[in-house]
Amino acid sequence: MENERGSWSSNIGFLLAAIGSAVGLGNIWGFPYKMGANGGFAFLLVYVIMAIMVGFVIMVSEIAIGRKTGKGIIEAYREYSKGSTWIGYLGLIIPVIIMFFYSVLGAYCIEYIAVNLCNLGFNTVSASGADLFTAMLTNPVGSIVYTFIFLAGCYAIVKSGISGGIEKFNKVGMPALFVMLMVVIIRSVTLPGATEGLKFMFVPNFTYLGENFIKVLSVASGQMFFSLSLAMGIMVTFGSYLSKKESIVQNAGIIAFSDTLVAILAGVAVLPAAFALGGEDAAMSGPKLLFITLQDVFGAMGSVVGPLFGVCFYTLVLIAAITSAISLTEVAATAYEDNCNKKGKTPHRTRATFIVCLIIFAGGAIVAADGLGSNGLWVPFQKTFGINGWNDCWLDFFDFISEGVLMPFVALVTSILVGWIKKPSSIFEEVETEGNKFTGYGLFKFCIKFFVPVATIFILIGQIDTFFQLGIF
Ligand code: PHE
Repeated sequence: MENERGSWSSNIGFLLAAIGSAVGLGNIWGFPYKMGANGGFAFLLVYVIMAIMVGFVIMVSEIAIGRKTGKGIIEAYREYSKGSTWIGYLGLIIPVIIMFFYSVLGAYCIEYIAVNLCNLGFNTVSASGADLFTAMLTNPVGSIVYTFIFLAGCYAIVKSGISGGIEKFNKVGMPALFVMLMVVIIRSVTLPGATEGLKFMFVPNFTYLGENFIKVLSVASGQMFFSLSLAMGIMVTFGSYLSKKESIVQNAGIIAFSDTLVAILAGVAVLPAAFALGGEDAAMSGPKLLFITLQDVFGAMGSVVGPLFGVCFYTLVLIAAITSAISLTEVAATAYEDNCNKKGKTPHRTRATFIVCLIIFAGGAIVAADGLGSNGLWVPFQKTFGINGWNDCWLDFFDFISEGVLMPFVALVTSILVGWIKKPSSIFEEVETEGNKFTGYGLFKFCIKFFVPVATIFILIGQIDTFFQLGIF
């Protein structure tokens, strides 16, 4: 069975794929804008605490469940605990919903690379970030075509299988990403006025946190689940390919640390620049931050250097998006293959990948056509809840369902399953196979049994409160 499914050709392959999955648009697009809109330091503090006490704990559990069973998400949960197969199915739906909007954000990156390439060397004043972004959003056909291109790329990589496609791509993509991020950071922090942004991020300020605790807790935690690729079977799937010799705790630590580091670095790349250009208001501008503010930073850098930085930066974001998108697609493809193996049929990876991508394209086309609500498409719950309601766009809607509700919910049931039904010892055994040590098991036990369930319940309530503007907190 092991051999039929293929496995990582080395542990570095596993690590790079897991880090590649974790580091994505969540880090570079989501983290800076959510941090900007939620009090800077307050957000950072809550994020880091939740990443350690909730994220890391769930990650260890998921990798262990995957490796213990050696199966993709659905079969893994079935084998781990009979009554919990439904968690597997739920975990299978989440990546598909995420991909509905993820593929569109990926498409925007491709469009920005194209625009910056076209600007290269022209002495004309290029359009402002805001104009550019509006033009893009209000061109549904263009967005749909770019979404198609993005998905075609994912399809080509995922269909080549685990070591052929994902591993090779990550070995080049991840280091390149890191280098390019450093370059943009140097530009950002040397802009006049950038120090305000750094202060906003790193100087302790507890007033904001005190006044908005539940909101910051739920936004930072939703972001943390999303960013660490948790609660949707990705780590289960990757763990199922991991060798028994490897230390799960160490690997999970490296993944969580790298992901958080890249998110903070992306914050340092984006927020000081936003402060330098437009002050705190710019930093708080929400989802458009990456596509408007930074494009203006590049626009102000001259006709050659600017577009060049633009091309580099959006290529970086695209690489990060692709390595995450392939992992999202991989979950469904592996589950399909396992299902074929179980029924004694030969799995057709190409067909599985194709079907998954087609479904994603159907949802992605809606989000693309909607253009963050610019094109007046009907959206579920639209204008139902209060005047200050949510953004009334399909991207927000899918984001709320996946990151806001389903992921904290899956984390909640996973913690109950591991902490109370199967008991933490089931994870302990798997972690300690072949002489590995489970350092910090006491803390793990406390978190999975008590801290994670309580925290996820608050996160869920906070998310629903924010989305529907109920005003509970
Ligand atoms: N973690 C990725 C990011 O931060 C997104 C992602 C979510 C990837 C869930 C896989 C699973 O962009």
